[in-house]
Amino acid sequence: MVDCSVKLELPKWYDLHAHFRQGEIVAPLLKHHLRMGCAGVVAMPNTRPPVAKVFDSDDHPYESIERYLAALRPAGADEAFEVIVPLYLTRDTSARMIEQGVSSGLLRAAKYYPPHGTTGADQGWHLSGFMDNGVFRAMEEAGVLLCIHGEEHQMAAEQYFDRHTNAEAFFYRERMPRLLERFPRLKIVAEHLTTQVAVEFVHQAPDTVAASITPQHLIYTVGHLLQGLRYHLYCLPLPKFDEDRAALRQAVTATDNSKFFAGTDSAPHTEKVTSCGCAAGCYTGGIAPQLYAQAFEMAGSDLASEEGVDSFRRFLCLNGPRFYGLPIPKETFLLERAEQEITPLRLAGQEIVPLPVGMEGKGESPVSIPWRCLE
Ligand code: DOR
Ligand code: ZN
Repeated sequence: MVDCSVKLELPKWYDLHAHFRQGEIVAPLLKHHLRMGCAGVVAMPNTRPPVAKVFDSDDHPYESIERYLAALRPAGADEAFEVIVPLYLTRDTSARMIEQGVSSGLLRAAKYYPPHGTTGADQGWHLSGFMDNGVFRAMEEAGVLLCIHGEEHQMAAEQYFDRHTNAEAFFYRERMPRLLERFPRLKIVAEHLTTQVAVEFVHQAPDTVAASITPQHLIYTVGHLLQGLRYHLYCLPLPKFDEDRAALRQAVTATDNSKFFAGTDSAPHTEKVTSCGCAAGCYTGGIAPQLYAQAFEMAGSDLASEEGVDSFRRFLCLNGPRFYGLPIPKETFLLERAEQEITPLRLAGQEIVPLPVGMEGKGESPVSIPWRCLE
């Protein structure tokens, strides 16, 4: 029987992959993160224009890390709240940009997007470009972390989502081994894993490689997306099959897990459905630790037991900051096994539908989730 009175006190955690966009919406989004016990975030650079230069004084027509950080700070992210903005890698990124960025202290990570492969990825450049132009070498030398959206770009539809392969599986079979071979000291975060192939790759890779996993990929499969075309679950990489989800669940709940950690990929979309398709991204700001706790229980973890809490703590609070070299906060937050109702949100005058709203019935709300976060 499920013990309903479970209360967990955990160190504040870092969301090592989230989207905060630009403008008025930044402040309420950050507030949601603070409200769920977050001590810091990695704020993704796929803004418009992307955060693809370090300094404002650089002439390239991009947003800069310098300016984006300055926009995030007054919006609620104060000194105690750690914010890392990875540099969006484009064809204009150079080894010199990396070296100067590191010397200034502003550059700590960089992000590879498969060109045109996801929301805001149209300025990405092919992986081998960075392998040959000195960018990855400079990152390796300077200890700049590489965050990877691991999907092959521009695949034929027949292979993009096939029974035997898909954009992520192809990338982990074909591209990642070569990347590691060429740059054995480069620190790599394999982001938002969705396949058994990728999980196995990370397991066998050296300690220079770790991975983040989202709540939605632990809870759902592609069948949940397709049955009723529940488009609020549409995100990239796509949720995959039951055996893939089982591999993700096994990886995060293992009592000796030291490589897999939380990164929600929380991505607000104010226009989810467009005239020619659907915007990729699920919003889980404010409720991510709750959803992760739910996912652990779905995976068979007993969060009323010491062993269960231990593996949950490793995944949510310890592995990520250790890999990023961030301090484990002394401050704590509380998660309680008590139902919480979720409804659509109005942020800066626009509607955002958080998961799991839209995943049941006719999409009515509120829907309830089994865990609550106490401030
Ligand atoms: O589903 C996604 N949404 N995947 C990404 O890679 C980007 C993100 C977004 O920015 O909306
Ligand atoms: Zn993302």
